[in-house]
Amino acid sequence: MLATLRQKRVILGISGGIAAYKSADLVRRLKDAGADVHVVMTAAAQQFITPLTLQALSGNPVHTELLNPEAEAGMGHIQLARWADVVLVAPASADVIARLAQGVANDLLTTLWLATKAKRAVAPAMNQQMWAAQITQDNIATLIKQGVEVFYPASGSQACGDVGMGRMLEAVELAQCCADLFATQALTGKRVVITAGPTQENLDPVRYMTNHSSGKMGFSIAQACIEAGAQVTLISGPVHLPTPDRVQRVNVVSALQMLEASQQAVNDGCDIFIASAAVADYRPIRIAEQKIKKQGDNIHIELVKNPDIVATIAQMTPKPFVLGFAAETERVEEYARHKLQTKNLNMIACNDVSRTDIGFQSDDNAMTVFWTNGCQKLDKAPKQQIARQLVALCAQQFLNEYNDEATS
Ligand code: PMT
Repeated sequence: MLATLRQKRVILGISGGIAAYKSADLVRRLKDAGADVHVVMTAAAQQFITPLTLQALSGNPVHTELLNPEAEAGMGHIQLARWADVVLVAPASADVIARLAQGVANDLLTTLWLATKAKRAVAPAMNQQMWAAQITQDNIATLIKQGVEVFYPASGSQACGDVGMGRMLEAVELAQCCADLFATQALTGKRVVITAGPTQENLDPVRYMTNHSSGKMGFSIAQACIEAGAQVTLISGPVHLPTPDRVQRVNVVSALQMLEASQQAVNDGCDIFIASAAVADYRPIRIAEQKIKKQGDNIHIELVKNPDIVATIAQMTPKPFVLGFAAETERVEEYARHKLQTKNLNMIACNDVSRTDIGFQSDDNAMTVFWTNGCQKLDKAPKQQIARQLVALCAQQFLNEYNDEATS
């Protein structure tokens, strides 16, 4: 299953070795799985396969130079390092493994490797004697100590005529290994219901009230929950986003429809309810049957309060673990803590929607997450990364609170 690769930002580092031909197929497989791939090649790699091939397959420019002003003006090595969710070096030659293990930063690949906070992995490929050499094994052990994943080579006949360990895994296996890096299993078997996007409240057959929510935050949370092994129902207001693989999606329009779908989904079985939707607090008291005609200079539309979906779910018995959101423009922490308490939530993620670089519509977000006895700040990052951090926190707190209950 490659579903966890969807929307992942992969840097594929290619070093010099005959196995570089497999990297072309790997790029295709990563792309097919929904990943965005940037290829970084060492000078030796370009002796085996052309940057043009990899550019055509990845759909992105191939990066080869560390000290190239033109390339640095585009996506420079530090930006590349920050952009990535994972840096995979495949094939990783004995030379590159040695340089990565020792922190030598003398080309683009080894420099961005040092500069990234992303997951890092190597797929070694070399002659069996070179693989068996003590110094190579010591370098591999050093990388493992640094938290690097090693996709161990297979045994078989080699391009040099030798037979033994050192053949790089096939592209299909490497794509799977890469996908497995994102599968945390923190929520294995758990049922998660998520609300996302805006609601639309109709005024008449052609007009409605809504807000700026794009659904990106909620859909990223759904994807992160899938990666964590959960069974996910996503109740979405009107948005233009594709449904993540293996997610059951329920489309709704209004707050009342979202409430009904949420109650139904929770009654069907729910361990965790996550309310990331931007629900309209009020709706027109009546929906005009015909288009409202232009009249005087002012028009009065009477609104009535919508039910609070997340607070309603938090009153249900048995109560799922409830993670709410708070979209604030001022006194962010104070209002968030108030909502945590008054809505009977287990956890609340608050974001400052007065900022234009995060929150509504943006690809990035930043938030502070509060629960009764703690809080955690999540620094600005792409919504997919923030979602993974939030889901990890939620899983941890869910286990703390609900396992304690089960055992007490
Ligand atoms: O969709 P994006 O463009 O990616 O933007 C993401 C986001 C900014 C919408 C998201 O991060 C976010 O903040 N979502 C919550 C928006 C919101 O309505 O916040 P609120 O503070 O008004 O509501 C507090 C909580 O009550 C929220 O969990 C909300 O879903 C819930 N609520 C509110 C009103 C209502 N009638 N029913 C509810 O369940």
